[in-house]
Amino acid sequence: MSFHILGTGSYVPPVVVTNDDLAKIVETNDEWITTRTGIRRRHVAVDETTSEMAAKAASAALENSGVSADELDLILCATVSGDYICPNMACLVQRAIGAACPAFDLNGACSAFLLLLETAAAYLSTGRYRKILCVGAEQMSRILDWTDRSTCILFGDGAAGVVLEPGENYLGSQLVFRGSEELLNLPTSTGTFPGSRLEAQHPYVYMNGSEVYKFATRIVPQAIQQLLDKTGTPQSDVAWVVCHQANRRIIEAAARRLKDIADEKFLINIEDYGNTSAASIPLLLDECNRAGTFKKGDLIVLAAFGGGLSCVAALIRW
Ligand code: UT7
Repeated sequence: MSFHILGTGSYVPPVVVTNDDLAKIVETNDEWITTRTGIRRRHVAVDETTSEMAAKAASAALENSGVSADELDLILCATVSGDYICPNMACLVQRAIGAACPAFDLNGACSAFLLLLETAAAYLSTGRYRKILCVGAEQMSRILDWTDRSTCILFGDGAAGVVLEPGENYLGSQLVFRGSEELLNLPTSTGTFPGSRLEAQHPYVYMNGSEVYKFATRIVPQAIQQLLDKTGTPQSDVAWVVCHQANRRIIEAAARRLKDIADEKFLINIEDYGNTSAASIPLLLDECNRAGTFKKGDLIVLAAFGGGLSCVAALIRW
């Protein structure tokens, strides 16, 4: 037994920053950003915190699921841009929505939402819990160096999640981890102890974009194929691919390698949101759920990659 998705929800802050707006801050232009990434605009939280966005997404997911906060047995959250390192975001969401269940976070950067699903599937399989809320939320705008054009144009803010109950619709997963901080990292505070051998670090997202790009274009189609092989699923049976929205070209490269999955099955909303890290996959799931894109029984591949380095692919039945 694994899980069934009861409902989805999302929230993005109202302020929209276009590529032209960014061109006023750093040396860039709409044409470069659009052709290299597929991003046209992103939402930025100016009045809200990450946990406030997460709580709004959680409430929307509960409403869509017909589940009340006091029915939840567990809240799992993911963020790299939470209000605090401690308390974790899940505890703040728990209080905001009026739940009383256990609540904790997992740290997995852009792959984190799929790690929440993997963890929830394990808990639900044991019968320990019956209703689990999973939320990914990010205020990436707070952890970016807005003078660095190679990173500040890529990310956006937002939150989204799902409510799960025991079921048969989590069909398998493929997890690939290559421990390394060189290509992608976000330093923590180093403190002020005078004898510390650690130098204060630039407290913003660092990324070697072209190397992460090479990692992603190689690993994503590979992990998806391994997932399909292990679940005995022909590519042609896949109804949709919901890929982490980091760069349209990465998704198109994966589509080229997975020849029997038609290009139009790779869903894309990066144009409007940029890379929202842990919120990226549930945001797209919620958008498609509310638009009626998914039909009951559709086989959907979910695929994420990012800091770790990591790549997680999962197969679900809608
Ligand atoms: O979710 C976490 C995972 N992250 C990702 O998946 C991101 C993966 N990486 C990427 O998506 C791409 O590598 C980027 C979009 C970040 C960059 O695209 P690229 O085609 O790899 O460009 P590049 O880094 O090789 O830079 C090419 C040129 C450079 O100029 P020179 O050295 O050729 O003169 C950059 O300085 O583009 C320049 N450049 C820019 N120009 C205008 C870099 N950023 C910008 C910019 N506007 N914003």
